[in-house]
Amino acid sequence: MIAVVTGALSYSGKYITRELIARGYTVRTLTGHPGRPNPFGAAVEVLPFNFERPEALVESLSGASVIFNTYWIRFERGAMTFGRAINNLKLLIDAARRAGVARFVHTSITGADARSPLPYFRGKGVIEEYLRGAGIGYAIVRPALIFGPEDVLINNIAWLLRRSRLFGVPGDGAYRVQPVFVEDLARLEVEAAAPGANLEIDAAGPESYRFTDLVRAVGGTIGRPPLIVHLSPQTMLLTARLVGWMTGDIVLTRDEIRGLMSDLLVASGAPTAPTRLSEWMARNAATLGLAYASETARRA
Ligand SMILES: NC(=O)c1ccc[n+]([C@@H]2O[C@H](COP(=O)([O-])OP(=O)(O)OC[C@H]3O[C@@H](n4cnc5c(N)ncnc54)[C@H](OP(=O)(O)O)[C@@H]3O)[C@@H](O)[C@H]2O)c1
Repeated sequence: MIAVVTGALSYSGKYITRELIARGYTVRTLTGHPGRPNPFGAAVEVLPFNFERPEALVESLSGASVIFNTYWIRFERGAMTFGRAINNLKLLIDAARRAGVARFVHTSITGADARSPLPYFRGKGVIEEYLRGAGIGYAIVRPALIFGPEDVLINNIAWLLRRSRLFGVPGDGAYRVQPVFVEDLARLEVEAAAPGANLEIDAAGPESYRFTDLVRAVGGTIGRPPLIVHLSPQTMLLTARLVGWMTGDIVLTRDEIRGLMSDLLVASGAPTAPTRLSEWMARNAATLGLAYASETARRA
């Protein structure tokens, strides 16, 4: 059983890979950072994405029965646009079909919609539609907000609260998020790889938070109850840019603020994952937010 995972040296792909190895799969990964330290050693073969060489991409998928895709971008930067990410994913889906891969397990997002005004969610919707018509077996797994040791958003809320209890929230903060634990997501994805009918599921944990309540929960866990200030999206963006200037990172983009406020990061049905963010945070209170998690540093 050979499985290909995109991004096994990054965040969620690493947990999918762990789950696959535990279940006896041989794993190959495709990544934009083939030189990054490989925590799996010889157990995982590391190959570059090869989006510019479709024949090599097909070759890198040969022999695999399933591919798990995590590839996507958070925001556009330089030549890395959503349009390019969409093209790359279409190439990957086509390459998987040509290589004879039986099932494409795709990580999407709750609220994915090809008609969304938000490029991230629109691109995810476009790829879902492409995959449905691509002539390959598929499972679409839609996480809401992923949490785990390498998480950015929840960790950095804690990091900020450790420095200042004054915390800016865009708008009324009543929009919701439904976090899913990265290990639960990995398990759902690997289970979704089983041969059978095509599948579309949300990956969302048992707790749903209003955003202000999420910030309060993070602050309460680390002993830094927040003093919440409600900001207009524009002022929030300026504040995020100031923090970005201090940290050398892109903290939150205009579209991410709009996405957060659009109430998209919740499941449409019952929870599908068991781990509670509140319990995980309580277990990790001593380390949550001690170090800043930089998207820019990860992409370097
Ligand atoms: N994190 C969340 O809270 C969240 C919530 C909902 C949905 N999702 C979706 O879940 C999937 C996995 O998310 P993740 O946080 O685990 O992602 P990740 O590990 O940081 O990255 C996943 C893959 O995308 C590639 N990638 C990411 N940003 C890129 C960029 N700017 N340029 C080129 N390649 C890039 C990575 O390349 P390398 O291999 O080179 O690192 C990796 O192969 C994504 O499709 C995301 O949209 C995430």
